[in-house]
Amino acid sequence: MLIIKFLLSYSQIIKYKMSLFIKKPLDKLLAEAAETGEHTLKRTLGSGALLALGVGAIIGAGIFVRTAAAAGNHAGPGVMISYIIAGIGCAFAGLCYVEFASMIPIAGSAYTYSYATMGELIAWIIGWDLILEYALGAATVAIAWSEYLNKFCEHYFGFTIPYEWCHSPFQSEMINGMASGVHGIMNIPALVVLALLTLILIKGTKESANFNSIIVIIKVVIVLVFIGLGWSFIRPENHAQIIPTNIGETQLMNGEIGFFDFFKNFWGEFGVSGVLKGAGIVFFAYVGFDAVSTAAQEAKNPQKGMPIGILGSLAFCTVLYILFSYVLTGIANYSEFSVTGEGHEAAVAYAINKYMIGYEWFGGLITIAILAGFSSVILVMLLGQSRVFYSMSKDGLLPKAFSEIHPKYKTPAKATMWLFLLVGIFAAFVPGDVVGDMCSIGTLFAFILVSAGVIIMRKTNPDTPRPFRVALVPLIPILGIVVCGLMIIGLGAENWIRLFIWLAIGFVIYFGYSKKHSKLNNPDKK
Ligand code: ALA
Repeated sequence: MLIIKFLLSYSQIIKYKMSLFIKKPLDKLLAEAAETGEHTLKRTLGSGALLALGVGAIIGAGIFVRTAAAAGNHAGPGVMISYIIAGIGCAFAGLCYVEFASMIPIAGSAYTYSYATMGELIAWIIGWDLILEYALGAATVAIAWSEYLNKFCEHYFGFTIPYEWCHSPFQSEMINGMASGVHGIMNIPALVVLALLTLILIKGTKESANFNSIIVIIKVVIVLVFIGLGWSFIRPENHAQIIPTNIGETQLMNGEIGFFDFFKNFWGEFGVSGVLKGAGIVFFAYVGFDAVSTAAQEAKNPQKGMPIGILGSLAFCTVLYILFSYVLTGIANYSEFSVTGEGHEAAVAYAINKYMIGYEWFGGLITIAILAGFSSVILVMLLGQSRVFYSMSKDGLLPKAFSEIHPKYKTPAKATMWLFLLVGIFAAFVPGDVVGDMCSIGTLFAFILVSAGVIIMRKTNPDTPRPFRVALVPLIPILGIVVCGLMIIGLGAENWIRLFIWLAIGFVIYFGYSKKHSKLNNPDKK
C-alpha cells in the first residue's frame, strides 16, 4: 500500500516537473509567426527601419555619460579597448539572437526562444528578466533625460527645475560637497517624457519607427560632427599612455619598477583590470541592439531584416564608439573625467567648452541632440518591452489585456499603458545608477540564456531551416556565455542580490498566477 502511494506521489512529482519544463512546439511558433488578421501585429518594418531601430536603442546615455566615467575612473584612453571587449561579448550574443530571430520571427525575442528550447519555467524567468533590460533601461534613460533637460534649461534659459521635482526620494541635494537638506520627491520630467513616448507608441509602430529614424539621423550626425571637429583638437600627450598603470607615479619617474610591479596592472582600479572594469561600465552603451529582435513579427522580411538590424547596428555603433572615445580622451585628459558632474554627465559639453575654442555653440547644440537621442532609446525600449508582454500574454502567462490589439492603431495599446505605469514608478522614485546597473545585469543574463538556447536548439531541432546559422557552434555561444558571465561578475555582489530578489518575485508570480493560466499547461482553457 505504502509503495503504491509512494509511486503515485512520485509520478505526480514527475508530471509536475514536466509541466514546468513544457516546451512550445516550434511548428506552433512558426504558425503564429505566419498568422495575419485583426488580432496580430502588422508587418510594416523594412531593413532600413530595423537598422534605425537598433541604432535608436543603442546610442544614448551610454556613450554620452559612461565613456567619460569609465575613462576617468578605470581605463583612461584605453576605454577604446573596453568598448572593443564589450562589443565582442555583444557580437557573440548578437549572432545567437540573429539565428533565433530569423528562424522564429515572432514578437517576444529571448522569451519566445527559450519557451521553444528550455521550457516554460525558463521562458518565464527570461521574460521576467527582460523587464530589467527593457523597462528598467527605459527608466534609466528617462532619468538621464531629466538631468539633461535641466542642463538645457540652464544653458538656454538660465533656470533649473527644483531639485525635489526631478529626483527620487532616495536622493539628497549636495552643494559643494555639503548636504543642503533638500530631498527628492519624484522625477516629473522623466514621467513626462515617458508619457509622450507612450502616446507615440500607441499611435502606431510605423509612426514610432518614423519618429525614431528622424532622431537617429540627428544623433548620428551630431556624434560624427563631434568626431570630425574634435579630431583636430586631439593633443598627442593625452594619448601618450593608452592604458594608465596601477604603478605609482613617483615609482615610475624614478624608474624603480620591479618584476612583480608588472602584475599590479592586473589587480586595481587602472591597468588591464581597469580596462575590464571599463568594459562592464560601457556595456550599458550596447544595451538595446537585441530590441530589434522583439520587432521580428513586425518585420516585412525578417530573414533579411533581422541580421541587418541586429548585427548591422551593433557593428556601426562599435566603430562610432571607438572613434568617439578616441577623440574625447584626446581632447581632454582622462584624469579630468574622474569626478561626477562635469566629468561624467556633462563630459562632452565640458570638453567642447574648455578645449574646442571657437566651437562653444556646439556645446549647447549637443545637449539638444542628446535629449533627442535619449528619447529614441526610451521609445525602442518601451516598444521591445510591450512586445515581450504581448507574447507572454498570448501564451497565458500574463493577463489577456497585455495582448489586446487596439482596433484602430493595431498596436498593443493596453500593454503599452500598463508598461508606462511600471516604468514610470521606477523612473519617478528610484535613482538612475540603481536602475542602470539592474538593466545591465538583466541584459547580460538574457544574453547567456539565448546563447545556451542556440546550442540546445541545434540538438533538439537540427533540421529546422535556419536562414542564418551561427558559425562554430558550440564555440561561439560558449564564448558569449563566458564573456557575459565575466561582465556579470564585474557588476558586483550588490547587483547579483538585486537580480536574485527580482527573480524571486518572478517565481511568486509564476506559481501564483502564470502556471495556472498557461495555455500550454491548461489546453482546455480558452
Ligand atoms: N544603449 C542605451 C544607452 O546607452 C541603453 O542609452
